[in-house]
Amino acid sequence: MRRYRKGTLIGLSLIFTLTVAWASGEDKGAANMILEGGKRGNVPFPHRQHQETLQDCQICHALFPQQAGSIETLKAAGTLKKKQVMNKQCTKCHRSKRKAGEKTGPVACKTCHVRK
Ligand code: HEC
Ligand code: HEC
Ligand code: HEC
Repeated sequence: MRRYRKGTLIGLSLIFTLTVAWASGEDKGAANMILEGGKRGNVPFPHRQHQETLQDCQICHALFPQQAGSIETLKAAGTLKKKQVMNKQCTKCHRSKRKAGEKTGPVACKTCHVRK
């Protein structure tokens, strides 16, 4: 086996640590996105703001993976029903926070869906 000098070993382990940190480093995705909203019109979605407010990614991503377009893919496959994300997540949460008197997001169709 080749023998390395201490400095080389420290250097190598540093590179290794950084690589692991980078590889496991969370991909937070786009800060803002436009979700497909069918004939009602698309839905602008402040992703980063929700990440910061809610902290837990799984609140949403338990239902669909952290991948652009995953909602529409799962809807097309029949794994997710139409409006499932909207009803079970978006408006459900906004409504319950409003009821609790907390800061919340829109619940009216036109506030979320923007007509093209
Ligand atoms: C309030 C709901 C919600 C929360 C909370 C949330 N996301 Fe997302 N995320 C979405 C939606 C909606 C999409 C878009 C899916 C699609 O395009 O079909 C998405 C897409 C993504 C994508 C892929 C899109 C891209 O731009 O690369 C990544 C990566 C991602 N999220 C990471 C995270 C991480 C990490 C967290 C936690 C820190 C998080 N998300 C929290 C709703 C959420
Ligand atoms: C908080 C934001 C929000 C509000 C409020 C909202 N929507 Fe949505 N809507 C979405 C999102 C996000 C989607 C795409 C994901 C899904 O289908 O669950 C969607 C999808 C839809 C679709 C398309 C479903 C499909 O796959 O064809 C229709 C139609 C729709 N909404 C109608 C409405 C109507 C009617 C209202 C008012 C009663 C409403 N939405 C209120 C966010 C919202
Ligand atoms: C678990 C709770 C929760 C879920 C799920 C959630 N939101 Fe929100 N949303 C919030 C809260 C809380 C706010 C208030 C703003 C803040 O402090 O982040 C908000 C604010 C918003 C705003 C207004 C942003 C602004 O600055 O005016 C929009 C638009 C919005 N949400 C869209 C959506 C859509 C679309 C979805 C589904 C893909 C969704 N939200 C899912 C909790 C949620």
